[in-house]
Amino acid sequence: MEGEELLIERKDKIAFLYINRPEKFNALNISLLNKINITLRAISKNDKIRVIILTGIGEKAFAAGADILEFSEFKSKEAMELSKNGKEKVFDFIEDFSKPVIAAINGYALGGGLELALSCDIRIASDNALMGFPETSLGTIPGYGGTYRLAEIVGKGIAKEMILTCRKISAKESLEIGLISYLTEKNELIDKATEVANQIIMNSPNAVNSAIKAINYSGGDSKKNCSDIESEYFSKCFDHPDFKKGVNAFLNKQKPNY
Ligand code: COA
Repeated sequence: MEGEELLIERKDKIAFLYINRPEKFNALNISLLNKINITLRAISKNDKIRVIILTGIGEKAFAAGADILEFSEFKSKEAMELSKNGKEKVFDFIEDFSKPVIAAINGYALGGGLELALSCDIRIASDNALMGFPETSLGTIPGYGGTYRLAEIVGKGIAKEMILTCRKISAKESLEIGLISYLTEKNELIDKATEVANQIIMNSPNAVNSAIKAINYSGGDSKKNCSDIESEYFSKCFDHPDFKKGVNAFLNKQKPNY
């Protein structure tokens, strides 16, 4: 398992998935997203696993976003594929997954990393966690469901404020606005996530799955439309000069000047 981008550990009825690119703050590249998809597909067939806990390796990050270097040369066509494939394989896949997924946010959850946490059923964060959407500083927008999932969870006002300003919020503030369910000390995060998982395991797997489906149902295909619209605006940003400016600034460790 050493050197792999996704580590899996099974403890009784819980599967732990660890994002393992700590040197890149667990940035989500395409190969990592594919591995998450393959792993979850295998877990879906295993009746003995009842809950998944998703977290990041290292002390710094849950995931600091999509891999900026990987998409830095993309134009709108590739960006559209990135957004749609990512949603299909991971972000929508997790939201509709047959077993509950708990995000244990152990550090930065930025951009795609926060979108990953938002796709999970339950979020728990340690006190060193920082969450936010830096995309508009890069000349783009969240493209893995962040625009509508954040708004659904915290309301449009706070979602707009967070996305337009790129402000990173603390775990304490995210608890106050309902973005997470629990805030723990750093070394108690996994214990708390395990405790919540064990509470779920006490209940009927069929009822838990049915509840997830019922809660996710948003009364028609409005979420589908939100998803298409987000992918469209996200991908169009990649053909705009601001995107080059923002991404080049990040890769050269500078601030963009818009
Ligand atoms: N994509 C690709 N690489 C990333 C990354 C991302 N989203 N986030 C961090 N990294 C890499 C850095 O490039 C750096 O790699 P290097 O050592 O090879 O140069 C390494 O992770 C450490 O990051 P660094 O910026 O040096 O650490 P820091 O402590 O100064 O800052 C962050 C940490 C998370 C605040 C900063 O890395 C950051 O802003 N990341 C991008 C967040 C973002 O915009 N996410 C949305 C993407 S759509």
